[in-house]
This record gives sequence, C-alpha cells and structure tokens, in this order.
Amino acid sequence: MKKILILNGPNLNLLGVREPGIYGTCSFDDYLPVLRSRFPEVELHYYQSNVEGELINKMQEVGFTFDGIVLNAGAYTHTSVALLDCIRSLRCPVVEVHISNVHQREEFRHHSMISAGCKGVVCGFGLKGYELAIEGVSNS
Ligand code: DQA
Repeated sequence: MKKILILNGPNLNLLGVREPGIYGTCSFDDYLPVLRSRFPEVELHYYQSNVEGELINKMQEVGFTFDGIVLNAGAYTHTSVALLDCIRSLRCPVVEVHISNVHQREEFRHHSMISAGCKGVVCGFGLKGYELAIEGVSNS
C-alpha cells in the first residue's frame, strides 16, 4: 500500500472559518474522510503545523520512506528557502497544492519559493486540488 503524507502549513487549521470566500466553508477535518474514501488503496497520513521548522521535521521524517508528500505550505510557499532545501533533500516526490488560484491574487503570492523543488503544482481547484495532487504523486 502506498503511503502519502498530506502536509498543511500555517493557518490551514482554520479552513472552513478562515476567509470562506477564498478557501470555502469545509474544514480539513471534515474533508479528510472524503479524501480517504476516494483513495482506499492509499495509506493517507495527515499533519498540520503553523511552525516552519515542524513542517521541515515532518518532511524529513517521512521523506525517505513514504511514496509522496502533498504540501500546501500556505504563506511559507512565498518565503521559505528552508522548505525548498528540505524538499530537494528528500527521496520522495513532493506536489505543491494551493486551494486558491494564487496567480489571481496579490502579486506577492505569484512567486513560489518551493515550486522549483516540486514534482508538480496544483492550484485554484479548491479542496479538490488535494485529490488531483494525490493522483499525480501516486502515479509518479
Ligand atoms: C494558499 C495560498 C497562500 O498564498 C496563502 O498564504 C495560504 C493558502 C492556498 O491554499 O491557496 O495560506 O496556500
């Protein structure tokens, strides 16, 4: 059975409450069972942290044994060389996900520090993007 980690960064614990016009009204805790039922053949692990170093620790922990990581790094996407370096150090592929279409938003969201290290990027499809990313990473 393939093992994939879904890793959410800062403020994504507030999904469902946070700016619902942009991120929707569904919490990730409510979405996770839906996701698990779509991929019964995949062992889906989930972790969220608001702390950059904890995201790095988690990626280092699973990145040499799991089959892939689906990463929504939140705002660290736009700032973190440390996340990019970590992604580049791992053995498993990482797919970058954004719920919103970051290219339709403020200019500071147009650049990703981490894309260069990722297998692919999914953005703008709401929570459905996590499904697309799991498909992408499990077929890579
Ligand atoms: C986000 C987009 C980022 O710019 C933002 O900082 C987030 C969420 C998204 O999922 O659309 O926290 O990654």
